[in-house]
Amino acid sequence: MKPSEILQQPFTLPCGVSIPNRIVKSAMSENNADKGGKPSERLIKLYERWGKGGAGILISGNVMMDYKAVGQPRNVVIEDDRFQKELAAWADAAQKEGTHLWMQINHPGRQAPRINKEVVSASDVQLPMGKVFAKPRPLTEEEIWKVIDGYGTAALMAKNAGWKGVQIHGAHGYLVSQFLSTRTNLRTDQWGGTLENRARFALEIYRDMRKKVGAGFPIGIKINSADFQRGAFTEEESLEVIDMLSAEGMDMIEVSGGTYEKAAMMGAKQKKSTKQREAYFADFIVKARNRTKAPLLLTGGFRTLDVMAAAIENKELDFVGIARPFAVYPALAKEFFEEKRTDVHLPKTTTGIKFIDNMGFLDIAWYEEQMRMMGNGEEPKPKLSTWKLLFKFLKANLF
Ligand SMILES: Cc1cc2nc3c(=O)[nH]c(=O)nc-3n(C[C@H](O)[C@H](O)[C@H](O)COP(=O)(O)O)c2cc1C
Repeated sequence: MKPSEILQQPFTLPCGVSIPNRIVKSAMSENNADKGGKPSERLIKLYERWGKGGAGILISGNVMMDYKAVGQPRNVVIEDDRFQKELAAWADAAQKEGTHLWMQINHPGRQAPRINKEVVSASDVQLPMGKVFAKPRPLTEEEIWKVIDGYGTAALMAKNAGWKGVQIHGAHGYLVSQFLSTRTNLRTDQWGGTLENRARFALEIYRDMRKKVGAGFPIGIKINSADFQRGAFTEEESLEVIDMLSAEGMDMIEVSGGTYEKAAMMGAKQKKSTKQREAYFADFIVKARNRTKAPLLLTGGFRTLDVMAAAIENKELDFVGIARPFAVYPALAKEFFEEKRTDVHLPKTTTGIKFIDNMGFLDIAWYEEQMRMMGNGEEPKPKLSTWKLLFKFLKANLF
């Protein structure tokens, strides 16, 4: 079979839903909702564009489940049924041509900037960037159950509005990830200590969602292969959590890595051998494959059709996750399938000035700008100047 054909094979998830092909657009926070966390016309337009691009699944940027805990000022927030009309329009626009739209649901925990009145987490362990992120207050037992219920409610709202799946954001140092890591979870109750206790939060979210959306609706999770920090969530722990999630019947486990303190998900400081193999967490996914039958999605670094197809053909994984390339080439999957393209190259989003580049926000801002342009009905610009964007950012935030 040709690489383009390998990627076009359908796949049936444990819940019985069939996904049309193996390419997934991974979550990218669009930061482009209307006031109050309402899904905007711009978001719907962006997903209409992506819906024509051929991906089997489009996973939304992280949607917050609590208005009091947002990761970015313009995140979509789904707490109840007030935005059902907009969610339905979003699903219709994205799914017109057969793509499945999934909602990524998140609570940022301590990675919530100071625009939030109060910040909560598993424990009171603050991020080192104290100017931006306040010291969190540990959640009470009652609050933990309320948050779990909130994830489930957001999932049910997605289902009721015609979305075809949901994903728990359990990676990148957000709340689920904070519970998993001994660096951020110092609790001595049933939510802390042993790995079983630290994983309880993720498992209870899954169980609550499953109760609310029923047996035939896809639920996935994105988790870290590791946090890549001393004393934090390790590779061995991640493999054990994958065992626990698989035993529950999880429909898809997406593997990524890193946190705000160590941005491994974006390829920061990868070993040369890993870079040569393109996908950042390629070694880990093989270990996961050897332990679980749950469908696996790997995200981070994939750029070449042959490499993606080989990973699937070798049965290392079931789905290929692609994020940044989709912000610049929205019809990427279709282009691969029609063999109009065999790889994708992205420009460096740096200024060349170390102090600015190390702050990391330019990379995110550059891709957000591409999504914003598509939402406005414009074409993405692979040659968009990083300097121009920096001036725009400074003007908006400082002057
Ligand atoms: C602008 C931007 C926003 C992102 N937002 C999210 C998000 O909301 N949820 C998430 O799980 N990952 C998010 N990511 C990470 C991507 O899903 C992905 O893991 C990462 O970009 C590596 O994949 P890639 O090399 O294909 O881009 C974001 C990445 C970018 C560039």
